[in-house]
Amino acid sequence: MERLEELKTEAAQELEAISNLKELEPWQVRYLGRKSALTQLLRGLAALPLEERKAVGAAANQVKAALEAGWKRKEAALKEIELAGLLGAKPTDVTLPGRPVSLGRLHPTTQTLRQICGIFAGMGFQVVEGPEVEWDYYNFEALNIPQGHPARDMWATFWIDVETEGGERPMLLRTHTSPMQIRIMEKTRPPVRVVVPGKVYRYEATDVTHEAMFYQIEGLAVDKTITMADLKGVLLEFARHLFGQERRVRFRCDYFPFVEPGMEMAIDCLMCQGAGCRLCGHTGWIEILGAGMVHPEVLRRVDYDPEIYTGFAFGMGIERIPMLRYGIDDIRLFYSNDLRFLRQF
Ligand code: PHE
Repeated sequence: MERLEELKTEAAQELEAISNLKELEPWQVRYLGRKSALTQLLRGLAALPLEERKAVGAAANQVKAALEAGWKRKEAALKEIELAGLLGAKPTDVTLPGRPVSLGRLHPTTQTLRQICGIFAGMGFQVVEGPEVEWDYYNFEALNIPQGHPARDMWATFWIDVETEGGERPMLLRTHTSPMQIRIMEKTRPPVRVVVPGKVYRYEATDVTHEAMFYQIEGLAVDKTITMADLKGVLLEFARHLFGQERRVRFRCDYFPFVEPGMEMAIDCLMCQGAGCRLCGHTGWIEILGAGMVHPEVLRRVDYDPEIYTGFAFGMGIERIPMLRYGIDDIRLFYSNDLRFLRQF
């Protein structure tokens, strides 16, 4: 019993002297741990006669409870002091506004592609994609542009170095999305209604209106009674969805070897409504796409009987569209990764 009293005073004195959390742990091990005098004492109880065992056991448990309570109190007090110290040394201004989380966003080209695909999807067109590394066969040959045909000069081509015995160059980076016309028709039977968004490449010097890589969307519809009226109707609907319900469109003759007749479509100028301004080069019109009725030679190539099936196709560059809408005057801004530009969309 005496030993217990001693322990209690000794522990209390030592605890009193402790001034930081680091010193508190050895204290706890020493007075409350498995090898502490108190624990040992409790173990030794078994050797005592019953009556004494009861009395000493009760006293020992009281001391234990007192030490534990003292320890908890001290710990709480020390933690508070430590926190106060931290706050005093490095004050936290809890009124400071938080740092904004910067959100990513869709590239203006992606936004435009999605919107255009959405418009055509609403008219029953499926969206499909195709390879950017393409065979000469799909990019030119099957589109009615044979080797040596002068129309090849319409597309400045990045050729890919692959060795062939005959010395010809059968691989390239696609110069337009039109090769997908062939790939789709080879794989399916009419009716066909697809749009194809994707990257295309041109071997050209870049300037404010030219990039070596840009995006196009191709459209193709083939069925039994398709006429040019369908082509005009679909494209008028598209132009009004994208550029406003008041839009007018103009079709003029143009030449592409894979369509007959071939045409280009223009919309009346967004800025001057057709009166003539800087944006439309004082013509009142802005050309936005090439189109036409699928050439019978192209249909025959994929085993579609041109006596039974007819179709229309169109293709357009994508960057032109946000450029017109937002007054962007340099196409190179799109792919130079300048966040100050991209964040605006
Ligand atoms: N592929 C043509 C181009 O890149 C556009 C086009 C597509 C024209 C389909 C007619 C039909 O210039």
